[in-house]
Amino acid sequence: MKADVLLGLQWGDEGKGKVVDVLTPHYDVVARFQGGPNAGHTLEFGGEKYVLRSIPSGIFQGNKTNIIGNGVVLAPDLFMDEARELERTGHPLRERLLISRKAHLIMPTHRLLDAAVEASKGASKVGTTGKGIGPAYTDKVARTGLRVGDLDDRFEEKYAYHRALHLKQLEALNYTDFDLTEVEKRWMEGIDYLRQFQRVDGEHVVNAMLADGKSVLCEGAQGTMLDVDFGSYPFVTSSNTICAGACTGLGLAPGRIGHVYGIMKAYCTRVGAGPFPTELFDEDGRRMRDIGHEYGAVTGRERRCGWVDLVALRYAVMVNGVTRLIMMKSDVLDTFPVIRACTSYRLPDGTITRDFPYDITDVTPVYEELPGWQTELSHLTSEAQFPAAFSDYIAFIERELGVPVAIVSVGPDREQTIVRGEL
Ligand code: GDP
Ligand code: IMO
Ligand code: MG
Repeated sequence: MKADVLLGLQWGDEGKGKVVDVLTPHYDVVARFQGGPNAGHTLEFGGEKYVLRSIPSGIFQGNKTNIIGNGVVLAPDLFMDEARELERTGHPLRERLLISRKAHLIMPTHRLLDAAVEASKGASKVGTTGKGIGPAYTDKVARTGLRVGDLDDRFEEKYAYHRALHLKQLEALNYTDFDLTEVEKRWMEGIDYLRQFQRVDGEHVVNAMLADGKSVLCEGAQGTMLDVDFGSYPFVTSSNTICAGACTGLGLAPGRIGHVYGIMKAYCTRVGAGPFPTELFDEDGRRMRDIGHEYGAVTGRERRCGWVDLVALRYAVMVNGVTRLIMMKSDVLDTFPVIRACTSYRLPDGTITRDFPYDITDVTPVYEELPGWQTELSHLTSEAQFPAAFSDYIAFIERELGVPVAIVSVGPDREQTIVRGEL
């Protein structure tokens, strides 16, 4: 068997949580491969809404195995809050959730370092989620990290050693005004809570399951434009959000990857700082934000909104090897008389390119205009009901990106999902 991957093609918040939940009945295993509590994956069904941060979005449909892979960074206190809330609302996880012993831990001092580094950057802040993501991954690469597999008898001693290293770094950054007492107490409570979960060698588990004929869906966090290598660096997150991240974040050989589901909004959003060529500062942008409720699931921050960027998406399709597209939030554009799509960039020297350049800071988007469908999509249940202008928009996206749109989403609920052809 091969493992399919579902990942974001834009700057995150494309609707990954919703679609992973919708696809879960087709799989035996759902596995998160990177990121941490910077993610906020929203699912809606039966009138309830859930936001998942570290726990895979396959937790609600049937008794499927869910895995937190080695590529994830885990904050025990936040994990405890998230898991307890799920258990409280009738979604027990202990038997169904496996956590890789190679996943790194986010310490309270990582969050302080995140804030300290951001403060030191002044105007060139990344606008991180403040969850300690960058510092935790920095420690991983610097070979000074603490992992889930370190939860043994000597854990307190190891924790004290890493904590001392961080305190020195904080002092060097002149960031000393904090009190860790309460936060550390809760964090240690989180560590004890984590001990009740199955901690496994995830790479062995995932490969054994595939060898056993089980189907696996790998769930990405963030999006391709936030990838540490290929995104809008340095305004990115600190992990590989692209398809290759599923290989390193779960221990999967490249040849084990099957379908790559690339998920995008019918328009585009970004939260945090950094370039965003198609960003709108006008009434259209405000309408997208209002109609699409574009506020961060984790931080509540306003999301920046703009038209779909096919130059960036073409690049994302290339680096991920996307085989199927998923288009989300189509309903948000229902009332727009004209839809614009950026098909190329004008570079500062005046040349026009369809290829994603090294630096997107000063590019000017070149748009194509398409007629809006001006029909309410949210109650539609099949492709046959699509207004012609909407079908034309989908066909245009497919032509531009060279990949079929397999799923169209017309609302936040699990049911508001239309599958086109075979999955
Ligand atoms: P993720 O991080 O990729 O899982 O996405 P988020 O959960 O951060 O953001 C997506 C938001 O859009 C959530 O509030 C979803 O409930 C909502 N959503 C998902 N699909 C649709 C859709 O097709 N239409 C509308 N209107 N909202 C959607
Ligand atoms: P999901 O999985 C949108 C952004 C932050 C910031 C940058 C770095 O819900 O799509 P970090 O805390 O990772 O160091 O922040 O990345 N960011 C996200 N934006 N969706 C996310 O996750 C994000 N995770 C991080 O806003 O610009
Ligand atoms: Mg999100």
